[in-house]
Amino acid sequence: MARPCSSSGGLVVLFLSLCSIFLIVDSTDTKKPLIDAKLLNSKIQVKQTYKVGPEEQYKSVQAAIDAVPEGNSQWVVVHVKAGTYREQVVVPENKPYIYLRGNGKGKTTIVWDECSIDNTKSATFNLEASNFIAFGVTFKNNAERDLPNLARNQSVAAKVSGDKVAFYHCGFYSPHNTLFDHRGRHYYESCYIQGNIDFIFGRGQSLFQSCEIFVLPDGRNDILGSITAQNRKSEKCTSGFVFLKGKVYGVGEVYLGRANEPFSRVIFANTYFSKTISPVGWTNWSYSGDTKGLMIGEHDCHGPGGDPKHRAEWARQFSKEEVEPFLGVDFINGSEWLPVYY
Ligand SMILES: *[C@@H]1O[C@H](CO)[C@@H](O)[C@H](O)[C@H]1NC(C)=O
Ligand SMILES: *[C@@H]1O[C@H](CO)[C@@H](O)[C@H](O)[C@H]1NC(C)=O
Ligand SMILES: *[C@@H]1O[C@H](CO)[C@@H](O)[C@H](O)[C@H]1NC(C)=O
Repeated sequence: MARPCSSSGGLVVLFLSLCSIFLIVDSTDTKKPLIDAKLLNSKIQVKQTYKVGPEEQYKSVQAAIDAVPEGNSQWVVVHVKAGTYREQVVVPENKPYIYLRGNGKGKTTIVWDECSIDNTKSATFNLEASNFIAFGVTFKNNAERDLPNLARNQSVAAKVSGDKVAFYHCGFYSPHNTLFDHRGRHYYESCYIQGNIDFIFGRGQSLFQSCEIFVLPDGRNDILGSITAQNRKSEKCTSGFVFLKGKVYGVGEVYLGRANEPFSRVIFANTYFSKTISPVGWTNWSYSGDTKGLMIGEHDCHGPGGDPKHRAEWARQFSKEEVEPFLGVDFINGSEWLPVYY
């Protein structure tokens, strides 16, 4: 744009007015600044940095978390340098205000390979603390896959139980029960989530903004897997999973989610669906309760898997008015606590 504006002669006025049109266009959400580690750093006052890496003071992520004082009340950075860290990590409830900074998803990876009958025991990363941010970290559970009828079939990559938690540009990988969005208000931005069965589950109150969801086949069972299993139990409960923009694709066939509590709430809006989404869309597998309280469905989605014609009868195509309160950070009171958001 700088070049046409610097042209001389009678066209300058025309160019200037064209430029101001471009500036107006620029101010729409296509040109918002990229949320990156630098921008995040500039938004929070960091008291201290704990560096993790083979050449750093802390050799494991857990060692750095252990070094953060209990009752911490100002932001600290745990900077995990590029590399693969083989460990289970717990961030206890009494250590809030941790910013876990990686060097990029796929570059900084925390991996463990536990499968269990207990979701929490299996979790590679277990976040119990509130006021937590992660940027550019991959969380992986590499448990065995394709083993039929294995009871130890829970393999959580990350369990998120804190309130006011944000993940930016993070990756979550596991064959089964990948992201245990347990409870609290959460924001996931530009994240990649991979799995097969119930792989985003819990009763969190969460906005997934511009995330990629990738479906992998899993030979362990005959049923089709579900991406989501949301556990909102009562009408009063504010929880729900909202997927805004982003895309869902992969290999094989899955449901977008399943009804598993009378008030389960899952909304996919303005999202691309590849043909990996079953035409029925949603399942009531193992659920025989009332469907009146469910808030499960889609709004303005597109792509080859987005045709609503054969969707389950209790799943909804929501109107704009119905979903408006959910399609933005206000749903999670984000403008009060998120350092940055779209
Ligand atoms: C997972 O294990 C439980 C028993 O712990 C079993 O009921 C369930 O069917 C298993 N799921 C799959 C997909 O194998
Ligand atoms: C489950 O969903 C199917 C398809 O929409 C419907 O025919 C069936 O009645 C539902 N079952 C229950 C128990 O709600
Ligand atoms: C969060 O936002 C909701 C909906 O906008 C509002 O009803 C609620 O009072 C807010 N909660 C807090 C703790 O601010």
